[in-house]
Amino acid sequence: MRRKSQTPRRAWVEDEPLARSPKRAFGVIAASLVLLGGTLGAVSVGSFEFGAVGSPATQARALPARTPSVAQPSAGSPSPTPTPTPTPTPLPEYVEGEPYIVNGIWLINRTHTVDEKYLVEGPGTDGLQAEASKYYEKMRAAAAKQGHYIYISMGYRSFEEQTEIYARNVRALGKNQKAAAPPGASEHSAGLAADICSQEGCGNNFGASESGKWVAKNAWKYGFILRYPKTKTEITGYQYEPWHFRYIGREHTAAFHEDPELTLEEYLGVE
Ligand code: DAL
Ligand code: ZN
Repeated sequence: MRRKSQTPRRAWVEDEPLARSPKRAFGVIAASLVLLGGTLGAVSVGSFEFGAVGSPATQARALPARTPSVAQPSAGSPSPTPTPTPTPTPLPEYVEGEPYIVNGIWLINRTHTVDEKYLVEGPGTDGLQAEASKYYEKMRAAAAKQGHYIYISMGYRSFEEQTEIYARNVRALGKNQKAAAPPGASEHSAGLAADICSQEGCGNNFGASESGKWVAKNAWKYGFILRYPKTKTEITGYQYEPWHFRYIGREHTAAFHEDPELTLEEYLGVE
């Protein structure tokens, strides 16, 4: 085990605060990057800017809940012109084990898993990818100005670590547990999710704290979303995780600001 627990393990939380990991070897990662770059094509793999602002991979598509309403002819209109029905752009096809990128966002969940070879540590804070780390640091600085001293208890998590965490949760809570993702289904392993703590605590204590509330309210400004909202377990498949924030890029987060219970699945119109 590379990481040692600072606190006793609690089975109900998959993401306990853990000691900082030593920097991992980057040789393997460099090789993986080449592989990843070849597959993801237009996504800004060189700088790891998945879901980045202005990402060339952005695939314009009409989202079911966000299709502009079709104008209706007014009652007195003499000869109403039929208004064409907008045709939603089809979702990209998901190929099992391949990164599934919709509208420039890499969706990773139980139904869109990814092979280990695509899961590489980023160069940023706690192994976050570069852009996620950059905006996390901006958020951290803004929080500190308000007296909230946040830190990441876990960012990147290897496939191997996820395998262990998943197995532990299944042992403790059963195979239908809603705490940990199976290996290949965790955003942590892509370096795109951060479990956040503060001087006020971690886990649900963080969620209930002033700093946790500050992050929940302001994360969207920095391109992060609260990934597993309280009322959406049926959609996400996971319990409420007030500590787990996913980076998707600022161009996508206004909708999550308007509706803090919105899930990424709903936003993308994907299961
Ligand atoms: N706790 C989240 C679902 C994960 O394991 O990635
Ligand atoms: Zn997490």
